[in-house]
Amino acid sequence: MKLQSLKIIDHPVAKAYLTKIRDRNTSHFEFSQFVERLSMLLAYEASSGLKTKSKKIHTPLAPYKGVEIKQEIILLPILRAGLGLLGGFSRLFPDAKISHLGIYRDEETLLPVKYYFKFPELKNSRNASVFILDPMLATGGSMNFAINEVKIKGIRTIVVCSLVSAPEGVNEVLKLHPDIKIYTCSLDKKLNDKGYIIPGLGDAGDRLFGTH
Ligand code: PRP
Ligand code: URA
Repeated sequence: MKLQSLKIIDHPVAKAYLTKIRDRNTSHFEFSQFVERLSMLLAYEASSGLKTKSKKIHTPLAPYKGVEIKQEIILLPILRAGLGLLGGFSRLFPDAKISHLGIYRDEETLLPVKYYFKFPELKNSRNASVFILDPMLATGGSMNFAINEVKIKGIRTIVVCSLVSAPEGVNEVLKLHPDIKIYTCSLDKKLNDKGYIIPGLGDAGDRLFGTH
């Protein structure tokens, strides 16, 4: 595992929120609230590599040479569970364009099945940064599928944002895409024989939307 490509958010508030959403006694309403709060911390960390360009402004008292973000930001939640992270990221990037990618994992084969993709038209895809949002990085199949779809659009800067990751999934993503960076709140122990992350938090989509 290339350690410089993986950043684990080591923040006391993030750890406490993550414990809240792992807890099986947390209701789905509270689950979605804490996922949104946690996603704000994740968004802050995951955007630390963005580039800036200088911007001249005037404060009420004097001219000031400041900065603005250079890249165009695209937020791409993987449906459904990725929607839980969108609120926090949108607060940090209210002008971001939002791309939706619908993928579900076949429960037998664990392979990703695509059912929807909408990506914005960009004037300059080389100046864009895409943040792929999905709370769970398990086998890595869904994330690798998403990264491929985004690369086909000519995007070079891709940041993977997850709440809980399995070593198997992180390895799989970095093996195929050594050029991308993964931000996660936890690198858990392993996958079980059904492809669920242990200790994990269960099925993120079901817990988020109360469908279990
Ligand atoms: C979950 C999760 C990821 C995927 C991770 O989605 O949100 O997209 O599984 O598993 P992988 O790394 O093994 O591909 P799921 O298929 O349950 O769909 P949902 O979000 O619609 O519930
Ligand atoms: N998808 C989930 O929602 N949870 C897991 O643990 C693995 C895949």
